[in-house]
Amino acid sequence: MALLDILTYPEKFLTRTTKSVDNIDEKIQKLIENMAETMYAAPGIGLAAPQIGCDKSIVIYDASSDKEKQDYQVLINPTIVSLEGEVVSENEGCLSVPEFRADVQRAAFALVEGFDREGTPLKIEAEGLLATVLQHEIDHLKGILFIDRISSLKRQLYKRRVKKRLSKK
Ligand code: NI
Repeated sequence: MALLDILTYPEKFLTRTTKSVDNIDEKIQKLIENMAETMYAAPGIGLAAPQIGCDKSIVIYDASSDKEKQDYQVLINPTIVSLEGEVVSENEGCLSVPEFRADVQRAAFALVEGFDREGTPLKIEAEGLLATVLQHEIDHLKGILFIDRISSLKRQLYKRRVKKRLSKK
């Protein structure tokens, strides 16, 4: 296994839309394992393929509180079937948006379909943290970051901070 580099804003690759996976082969399995290692090392509770520079529709996540188990889930070619209700996800963060957190308006319930790493169809009815994680990770596959879902004022604040940091390099 290997740790992968995590792309961070304003890397353009993060704004791209991913392609669906047609064949879950050895390469995809290897990628998933490396993504998992990278997610736990970060540490994070979710990781989408674009974050490590891969344009495939793959997300992994582990929203459980017991991180020792490392029992992560894989979702391939996920789609959001329906969203219901509203909730504010407090202090949401992202490995691709380091050193920044913000409250994000999210749906309270999400129905998601996709495939696991064996290609078995999955249907996930999520609420709470899991619903937020799924919305966040599936956004990545559409080139959307959580900072695209906060007020423009807060977003500008963050962008200015990043610009300042980059200009110092
Ligand atoms: Ni993220």
